[in-house]
Amino acid sequence: MTDHQDITQDWLSGEGDERRTPTDLHPEIPHPARMYDYYLGGKDNFPADREAAEKVLALGPLVRISALANRAFLGRAVRHLAEQGIKQFLDIGTGIPTAGNTHEAARAIEPDTRVVYLDNDPIVLVHSRALLAGASHGSAVVARADLRDPQGILDTPEVRKLLDSGQPVGLLLLAVLHFIDEQDDPYAIVRRLVDALPPGSMLALSHATGDFATPAEAAKGSALYRNASAQLTMRSHEQVLRFFDGLELAEPGLVTAPLWRPDQPAQPTDERVAIWAGVGRKP
Ligand SMILES: C[S@@+](CC[C@H](N)C(=O)[O-])C[C@H]1O[C@@H](n2cnc3c(N)ncnc32)[C@H](O)[C@@H]1O
Repeated sequence: MTDHQDITQDWLSGEGDERRTPTDLHPEIPHPARMYDYYLGGKDNFPADREAAEKVLALGPLVRISALANRAFLGRAVRHLAEQGIKQFLDIGTGIPTAGNTHEAARAIEPDTRVVYLDNDPIVLVHSRALLAGASHGSAVVARADLRDPQGILDTPEVRKLLDSGQPVGLLLLAVLHFIDEQDDPYAIVRRLVDALPPGSMLALSHATGDFATPAEAAKGSALYRNASAQLTMRSHEQVLRFFDGLELAEPGLVTAPLWRPDQPAQPTDERVAIWAGVGRKP
């Protein structure tokens, strides 16, 4: 992570980088990014994604409510980090661009904010590049990277070029860690990333949970992702809290997404939304 140069042009023009020509969209395989886009009411999805997403939505109204609550948490968390002085963000598992993207939320507070978006889904890259191609997005870039390879993430050229290693970073892991199963050791992944960031950096994290479902309902939810390109591993409050080990957890702690510093009137479903959400600061 060295300088702040505008790398958008390099990245758009490309220099023999095969990542710029996605050939592996696999529209026949349901993909979490496109299913999530469908839950949020987006149009960037294929029939296989819609079919799989409809089966998940049929589990009950809380599925869509949880997706929307997660997205709203993203906006409030990014705003909070920006208000704490964070001017550079590493957003991993960024998803297909939709309303209230990280660079938009952060720049409402600090116009000079820099954002690196990373995702392992080629369709996310296609849409993000189109969005970021505007002239005013010089220091928001997107690249393909896999959260299961934290060292690869830290070595990603876009991360090294755009983020200043001497300044605090806002690390966003929103609704992505539940796609990392135990055998890939998600705790070690988060530790590796946090260890690489300077003191004062902040982690915003959200994670699907089965805490409010019966075991049978939770198993059904996970089973519906079995044929998707990434499997769903829901975790309990205690398990999600462990991701914040070594960090100072901001008030109000790890709560369901709508209860994290809400800016809307309370809803009857708030306490049962199936997403744990929190923000921590590296001392
Ligand atoms: C549910 S969406 C969340 C989008 C956004 N972070 C939000 O909270 O609104 C999950 C995203 O994580 C991405 N993802 C899943 N597994 C990943 C991995 N191993 N590495 C990088 N991204 C991953 C998916 O492609 C998808 O875009």
